Amino acid sequence: MILILKCPSKTIFMFFGWNPNRSKLPLQKHHKMSFETLKPEVVALLSKQEQSLTEKLTAICELLRQSIDYYDWVGFYFKNGDKEELKLRAFAGEPTDHIIIPFGKGICGQVAVSNKNFIVPDVKAQDNYIACSIDVKAEVVIPLFVNGENIGQIDIDSHSVDPFSTEDEDFLTFVNQSVAQIINKNDF
Ligand code: SME
Repeated sequence: MILILKCPSKTIFMFFGWNPNRSKLPLQKHHKMSFETLKPEVVALLSKQEQSLTEKLTAICELLRQSIDYYDWVGFYFKNGDKEELKLRAFAGEPTDHIIIPFGKGICGQVAVSNKNFIVPDVKAQDNYIACSIDVKAEVVIPLFVNGENIGQIDIDSHSVDPFSTEDEDFLTFVNQSVAQIINKNDF
């Protein structure tokens, strides 16, 4: 919109609603407020005594998927007994064929071995990647430790390219630490 102000001595043109740098601005990736709001909700879901661990984890997956616009699939994998493989325990989003993932295979399997967070901004750039859906563009996997042992992980798939930041890592680490506090041997 252009507003033209006519003063006795000069004419002033004012431009509104157009920012020449707008297309260069980074996409809004940060959801700090959402994450801070979600933390107590995650803790509340985990404190429901009447629910099993799988029910609580499923509720967390659904909460995260519904609350964060670029979280399109959310799941928890855990070490499958004594086997060197991960097994899907809970998820929200499209069902996946990848219920079992051998250690070392894909992003999840690599995290099971490395014990480190793994952010993948663009899955096409990864050789060791297991595709769940052609819509997935990015992924983040954060290991879940109980008494210092990597027993599982949270896995997020996104249909957006490069959506994850250190704030996602911090939030998902909080989620995993909260889950770790309520896990006991009878759950496995
Ligand atoms: N993409 C994962 C496999 C699990 S799906 O994302 C649900 C991987 O490469 O390990």
